[in-house]
Order: sequence, then structure tokens, then C-alpha cells
Amino acid sequence: MLLLAGETLDVLPGETVLDCLVRHQVEVKSGCKAGACQSCLVRTNNVPPAKSQKGLRQDLIDRGYFMSCQCSADELAEIELADTEVFPSYEANLIQVDQLAPNIFRYWLSPESPIPFRLGQFVKLKYHAVERCYSIAEERDGMLGFHVRLIEDGAMSLLLRHAKQGGSFTITGPLGNCSYQAKSKEQPLLLVGSSTGLAPLYGILKDALCAGHSGPIALYHGAADATGIYLQSELLQLADNHPNFSYVPCTDVEQDEFRTGSPVTISLSDLPDLTGYQVYICGNPAMSRAMQKKAFLAGANLADLFMDPFEAQ
Ligand code: FES
Repeated sequence: MLLLAGETLDVLPGETVLDCLVRHQVEVKSGCKAGACQSCLVRTNNVPPAKSQKGLRQDLIDRGYFMSCQCSADELAEIELADTEVFPSYEANLIQVDQLAPNIFRYWLSPESPIPFRLGQFVKLKYHAVERCYSIAEERDGMLGFHVRLIEDGAMSLLLRHAKQGGSFTITGPLGNCSYQAKSKEQPLLLVGSSTGLAPLYGILKDALCAGHSGPIALYHGAADATGIYLQSELLQLADNHPNFSYVPCTDVEQDEFRTGSPVTISLSDLPDLTGYQVYICGNPAMSRAMQKKAFLAGANLADLFMDPFEAQ
């Protein structure tokens, strides 16, 4: 049994809190059902399992929030629905679109009021009726920059392909803790990403350099081929200007200027001992899960692993 606002909900064996709420026709948001999008937050005064709070902002954890899709309904006695202020929303307008690679674009949005955020955190962008999660990669003159890979037949991709300057978006968030948070400025950082998983890593890198991070920072960015490698000249320039930063683009297929192989394999071959490192992992879920496991086996502390796994949208 699960208590919700004085009402008792029966629980089926193996059912998540989210499934239980939906079955009882309680209105609750949801998205990925995989612990990534944080759409399904509810709160409790009990102790939710650690995995249901992984990646949440600390203030939400302190208030008992957890992802209802990541918790069995029989693990808790009572819950409450999320307050609306947990998901603040902002209206924003499209100011500019830059092409970064054949299928990768940067969308600059200007929110109507300031949004408190850290580069690398993600938000939900709603355009017309479609909503997707994107990481905040860049900030310039009050505008937020998002890297988007447009895919054939993706619902959001189809809309964004035709988005016009001034187009009206709703931004909800920010969410997640995938942002620069080294325990000291000397701590070594490893950033590993694939495709537009570069977006949060680029934000984290910029924040780290801006904060005067002096420990080594290594960025491994992977793509299937050269068409997926973007912001290369900006990153090479940063590596020239900051001796503690190294940038390694890698592609699955052999191409002269890039290392061949996955960013997971190549980074771990270069850095086999990750003791003391903070590791940030962003990109496709299979790559992220593999890197998380291997980084832990290579000595990284679980508390020092940060991930934002999103599927192409
Ligand atoms: S639905 Fe995405 S985290 Fe629960």
C-alpha cells in the first residue's frame, strides 16, 4: 500500500511508483522511464533508494524528491506529488541558428527572464507541442546555446529544421548535476562524450577553465565519422591557450586527423588509472554505461562519475 494525500493506493508486485500512480489515474509527468529526464519527480518523507535520486540537484534530494520510475512502489509508505516550483518554466525566443556540422546545429535562445543555471545542466525545451531534453552548452549575452543533432523523422528535428528567428519556446528546468564541480582546482578531470554529448562537456570545460582549474583536463569526443566532429577549431584553440587541457577527437572509421576507435577505449588506453579523477560522461546511453563501468574499474570513485545519457531526438 502507498499513501498519497490521505488516499491509499494498492500496489502490484514489482510495480514502480510511477506505474502505480498512472494505474490509479493520478496525473504525473513522465518521459524516458530510465532515470535520465527527471520528468517523473515526486517526493517522500521516507528514504527512497539511492538510484532514484542519482543526478538530482542537491536541494531536491534534501527535500525528499526522487524519480518515481526508478523506485518500486513497495519500498515506500507514503508520497506527495511535486510542487510546481520544482519545474520552473520560462518563455524564450529563438535568436540565431549556427550550423556546426552537416547535421548539427547550435540554437541560441533568449529567455524572457534570467534562468539560474550551470553550464552542462539540462533543460526541457518545448517547441509547439513537442518537448525534449537538451544540455546548456554555452551562454552569451544572456542567450543560452544548445547543440542539436537533427535526425531524419525525429519529431523535434522536423520542427527545428523549420524554426524561424523569433520562434517561441518554453524552457523548463534546469535539471541534473552534470556541471563543473571539482572538489579542488587541482583534481584531474576526464570528459568523455559522443555526438552532441559534447554539448554538456563543452559547457563543463568552459566553466572549469573560467574558474582557473589547474589540474589536467582531458576531453575525448567521439563520432561515427568526421561529419560528427564539431567545434574542433575552438577546442584546438583552447588546448593551445591552456597547457593543462588536451583534446582528442576520435572516429569509428579511420580518418587521418582523428584517433580511430571509441572515446571509451581510447581514453582508457591513454589514462588506465583514474584514481582521483572526476569523470563526466555524456552521449548515447550504451557508450555512457560502458564508460561508467570501466571508469569505476579503473579506480574512479562512484561519487566522482557524472552522466547525462540522452537518446537522439
Ligand atoms: S520518466 Fe524520465 S526519469 Fe523517470
